[in-house]
Amino acid sequence: MPTVTRRTVLTAGAAVAGVALDPLMAREGAGQASAATGSAPITLRVNGKSHQLVLDPRTTVLDALRDHLHLTGSKKGCDQGQCGACTVHINGERVLSCLTLAIAAQGQRIETIEGLAAADGSLHPMQKAFIDQDAFQCGYCTPGQIMSAVACVAEGHCGSDADIQEYMSGNLCRCGAYPKIVAAIKQARGQRENS
Ligand code: FES
Ligand code: FES
Repeated sequence: MPTVTRRTVLTAGAAVAGVALDPLMAREGAGQASAATGSAPITLRVNGKSHQLVLDPRTTVLDALRDHLHLTGSKKGCDQGQCGACTVHINGERVLSCLTLAIAAQGQRIETIEGLAAADGSLHPMQKAFIDQDAFQCGYCTPGQIMSAVACVAEGHCGSDADIQEYMSGNLCRCGAYPKIVAAIKQARGQRENS
């Protein structure tokens, strides 16, 4: 019977560790190879339609929408999560698409400003309210404002002006259309209550 020494235990342990580490290293190598190719197949469901894309895995939802699906309604303001211009809905919740990786949004329901109107072209009540209340000037922030506003009402965060201001505070408007945006949300809220 062989003698078990500290040396044989350490040697056996190292061998086991080697077996365990090899596949890991292989996976890491494969990951590097995949990164080296710079692309991955990604399927995104946007406004009810499925799109198959081949993208750099670092592509954001915003860039996938604008640069690959040519849905340019969602705007790139800061590209750093600070202005809200890129707001879309994912599974009904507002999300900053500039901070969300497309690869992580696979299998989720993405809705953009282009998908808000009805199939017959009639505007969503929030879109109509923004027009009625003249709630924009240059319009650059408006798609993000509208997507946030729809979610604000759906979340029940529109009971008062202060509530609306608080829950819309992530959406900046350089033109200062804030009072009219609040008015638009109250109009759309009223229509929702009456429907
Ligand atoms: Fe996404 Fe500004 S572009 S928050
Ligand atoms: Fe111009 Fe808001 S309408 S930035």
